[in-house]
Amino acid sequence: MSFFDESVESLQFSLFEPGAGQRWSTWPSTTPTERGPRPHPDWIVTSADAVDTELGIVKTGKEADLFLLERAVPDRPDESCLLAAKRYRGTETSDFHRSAAYQEGRRMRNTRDTRAVARGSAHGRAVAAGQWAGAEFVALCSMWERGVPVPYPVQISGTEVLMEFIGDGNAAAPRLAETRPRGDEATDRFAQVAEILRGFARAGYAHGDLSAYNLLVHRERVVVIDLPQLVDIAANPNGPAMLQRDCHNVCEWFRRQGVEAEEDELFADLIGEAFGSRW
Ligand SMILES: Nc1ncnc2c1ncn2[C@@H]1O[C@H](COP(=O)(O)OP(=O)(O)OP(=O)(O)O)[C@@H](O)[C@H]1O
Ligand SMILES: [Mg+2]
Repeated sequence: MSFFDESVESLQFSLFEPGAGQRWSTWPSTTPTERGPRPHPDWIVTSADAVDTELGIVKTGKEADLFLLERAVPDRPDESCLLAAKRYRGTETSDFHRSAAYQEGRRMRNTRDTRAVARGSAHGRAVAAGQWAGAEFVALCSMWERGVPVPYPVQISGTEVLMEFIGDGNAAAPRLAETRPRGDEATDRFAQVAEILRGFARAGYAHGDLSAYNLLVHRERVVVIDLPQLVDIAANPNGPAMLQRDCHNVCEWFRRQGVEAEEDELFADLIGEAFGSRW
């Protein structure tokens, strides 16, 4: 390649501008506290030349939408990764039905924001969306550090949480509810879910919205998602009741798959883990 060709190539590269559904990678502009726990896994693309391309919507949820993103350096196929972008809605379409019961025992810094959230004004909804995103990012980071199988939390930017995409190729892993395990396979999955619950309980938390819809199955491994409402079992007056409900939801599902899943036993075990860690 001649000097001229090389110059033209680098000129073309420097002229690259993100097109529709693209943006420059948000990694370089985030602060260290807005990034996931160290060590950062080596599959994460951190180059300032990287571009985020929206590949499509994975699912529209009650409070957030999940998009599939590719973060890649143009013309460098080895520098690319897939990310799940969970974007909380701050608009009328958002239904923060979960707020009241979960927020008990939590405090907000700014009283103007507190009043706006309570009123449900546009500003209040935007504040609430940012708080939910922040709460989910913090919960993912702390559970990741404790070794609970959650998607690796890559970044938080305002109302968007970027995390590891759990799936094969562009296909998201199925939710536990969409699978029909039998026999030993079902028993093994229940054991994995109980261990996830123990991981939360040891840190003093209940998931707070656990069901077969918030558990993904990826290559025989169960991964728990949707953590913004993590409930402090001791500090939240609704904590034990929410833990009981989590146990009920998963045990009932596993019983339908033929597993002897005893919810009272599991609940007692988790209360022991939670309070054993404090007293
Ligand atoms: N990291 C991920 N990798 C792959 N798929 C994911 C990931 N996170 C979420 N999903 C998919 O997107 C769906 C919605 O995600 P999540 O449960 O976190 O959001 P939500 O708004 O609370 O949704 P819902 O209202 O359905 O509970 C999940 O059920 C799952 O199918
Ligand atoms: Mg969910």
